[in-house]
This record gives sequence, C-alpha cells and structure tokens, in this order.
Amino acid sequence: MEVKMNKNNPTIGYIEGDGIGKEIFSHAKKLFDEAVALAFSGEKQVNWLELMAGEQAFEKTGEYLPQATLDAIGKHKIAIKGPLGTPVGKGFRSVNVALRQQLDLYACVRPVEYFTGIEAPVKKPEAVNMTIFRENTEDIYAGIEFDQGTDDVAKVVHFLTEEFGVNKIRFPKTSAIGIKPVSEEGTKRLVKAAFEYAVANGKQRMTLVHKGNIMKFTEGGFRKWGYEVAEGYDAFTKSMYDYIKKQGGLEAAENAKERALASGRIYVDDVIADNFLQQILLNPESFDVVATLNLNGDYISDALAAQVGGIGIAPGANINYDTGHAVFEATHGTAPDIVGQNLANPSSLILSGVMMFDYIGWPEVAHLIKNALAKTLSNGALTTDLGGMLGTAEFTEKMIANLK
Ligand code: NAI
Repeated sequence: MEVKMNKNNPTIGYIEGDGIGKEIFSHAKKLFDEAVALAFSGEKQVNWLELMAGEQAFEKTGEYLPQATLDAIGKHKIAIKGPLGTPVGKGFRSVNVALRQQLDLYACVRPVEYFTGIEAPVKKPEAVNMTIFRENTEDIYAGIEFDQGTDDVAKVVHFLTEEFGVNKIRFPKTSAIGIKPVSEEGTKRLVKAAFEYAVANGKQRMTLVHKGNIMKFTEGGFRKWGYEVAEGYDAFTKSMYDYIKKQGGLEAAENAKERALASGRIYVDDVIADNFLQQILLNPESFDVVATLNLNGDYISDALAAQVGGIGIAPGANINYDTGHAVFEATHGTAPDIVGQNLANPSSLILSGVMMFDYIGWPEVAHLIKNALAKTLSNGALTTDLGGMLGTAEFTEKMIANLK
C-alpha cells in the first residue's frame, strides 16, 4: 500500500532506545539527514519527532511504553527505533513485543545479505540473500502462559484432563503451561505480504518454514494456509513439481519448473524448521523469500544474521501492510557491555533506515545510504565487532564522506 504522508516533509517518530541506542542513533540520524539533503538538494527533509519507550521512558514517565508514543506512531504511521532493554522480573514481558502487538505490526521483515569486506564465519557468505517474513503477533509469543504451582495452571491442567481427556502432560503437578495460537487469518495476511514483496521485487522462490510434522494443527495449519495463499498468486508449487516428477520423471519436473520461473511464476515449497537451519548453511543460494511463524522466525533471523557477519549489521522492520504502520528497528539488543565506549556498530540501525526510506517512497535516499555502507565496508573500514578498528563516530563519518 502507498503510505499517505507529507511528501516533502514527512514526520517520522524515533525512539533512541536504551544502552547503545543513544550513541548509534545520534550518528545514524546525522547520516540520514545528510543523505536526504544530498538526494533532494535540500528540497525535502524529515521532520524527526522524538518518542519515549524503554528504560528512558520509565525513568521520565513511570511507563515503559507510554500511550503518547503509541498514539504518535498511530498518527504519523512511521517510526524507527534503537534497541530497548527488556525489564527482567518487573511484570512486563518485552517493550518490543508490546509495541508489535499493540500496533498489530504483523510482519517482521528481515532482509539478510552479505557485504564484501566483512569476515563471515561461513565459506560462502555471498550466497546468502534472502528476506524473512516472520509472523509477529501470534504463536507462543502471544504471551498466554500459566506459571508452575499457581491456581491458574491447576485450572488449565484440570480443564485439559477432565474436559478433553488429555493424559499426555508428563508431570501435571509441576508443569507450567503455554498456549500457542496460530490462525488462518494471521497466517494468510503474513504470507500474502511475503508474496507481494516477492512479486514487487522479482523474487523467484518462496519457502514456508514450519514444524508441522510435530505441531499438526498450528504449524501444520501455517503450511496449509500458506499454500492456499500461493494459489491466489498462480504459484508453481512443490506438489505440482512432485506430481510431474511422478508422472514424467525428474527431467520433466525440472523443465516444468524452469518454464514456470521463466514465465514469472514463483516456486513455492515448504521446509521443516530444523532442516531449514541446516539448509541455510549448506545451500543458502536456494532461498529467496521465507515466510515463517514467530518463534521459528526469531531463531532463523539471528542465525542468518550471524552467517553474514553478525547482528551488528542486520536490519529489521515491523509492518502492518493493511494500515501502513511501520516501525523500523536495529535488531540487536542494548549491548550493555559496550555502552558509552564509542564501540557500537550503527549499521543495523542504518540499514533499517534504508528499509524505511524505501518504504516511504524515497528509494534515492535508500540507494545513497546502502551504496555508502557497501563502499565503506569494502574499503576495510570496519567497527570492532567486525574485526576492524573504527569507533561508532569514525565509522559514520566515513560513511557520510562516502555518500558523495
Ligand atoms: P545484545 O544484542 O545487546 O548483545 C549481544 C552481544 O552483541 C554483546 O556482546 C554486544 O556487545 C554485541 N552487540 C550487540 N549489538 C552490537 C552493535 N551494534 N555493535 C557491536 N556489538 C554489538 O543482546 P543481549 O546482551 O542478549 O541483550 C541485552 C538487552 O537488550 C536485554 O535487555 C535484551 O532484552 C535487549 N534486547 C533488545 C532487542 C531489541 O530492542 N530489538 C533485541 C535483543 C535484545
């Protein structure tokens, strides 16, 4: 969808975040403004609006996620944020999860690609080029859990055993119980977003990743509903491939697949999550766009980020494609061990900014920034997390110089 906003002077909310958030934000914002000025010769500017969340917000307002922040994002649609500390043992699960759920940002979009110059732990990091669409509002992340030893968990266990004859809770008296909701609607809107992205970006392959072999109705449902969405896109599916292979042999199936891809159709298959984690190491070139559930997506995106050199450079966005609301974010945490030492790599936040400028329809700004990052890294200008010598400030200054 096209995001309706002031075309020359859009208001974008920003949350600096906790820990290293302030350091990376001040530098990244300077870089964003320089890129915008360069791309539009000063005719367009971002109207930055500071918003509060996390520990900083708690100190000032007594709340981790003030309503004013949600209202501002609700009104202006777009925001970008640094990492937020998750308060441990304070009755608040996660500010990030709350933000995603309250704004119904159902797609967590994580593009993963390799930049020359970065030392990666695998043999072929350049073969990794995929975009993960992780469902962001359901699954075990819905936060429906009952603690061990409580009256509530006793009621849930009683209900399951008495009403449904469940006899598979191995230790009913000492179990905690979690509920995993996965819906047809939640799955279909996510998979549809992934297809729209694949079509818009000329991607050839879509992979549904799930554990439907074990969780038949939840993860198996995700698989089933995902394929139903594929029908609407005239995709060439794995079952079509298998059918042709059975009837006419491997060559016939390969030919049919090749013809389908050449005519612009998308090939859709599904892979069990544990096998997928193996395949991204062995055959990363086989994957383009990946749609998966919340928990699988969490593991997969961090594993892939590590494959191309670490979470310091992996961007992310949380998007509701129906309302247009989008929160772009650095995907790493607050890095308490390096706070205030000018050691943080700002690239994750910077690449999230690239996604944001693309999303608001300023691709020229996105290109400038991404090219500057690629040039800086390939020149061997690296922050310490990537084995280099540069601090946050020096690295960003080099990037600003490379914008031109
Ligand atoms: P973390 O990502 O903060 O740190 C893990 C390791 O990576 C540390 O050694 C850290 O120094 C390094 N690191 C992370 N980002 C870096 C960067 N930009 N440049 C250089 N090195 C970097 O994960 P951790 O320690 O598990 O979590 C710390 C806090 O952050 C927790 O409160 C956690 O809940 C929160 N968190 C927030 C996230 C978010 O806001 N999206 C995501 C993950 C964690």
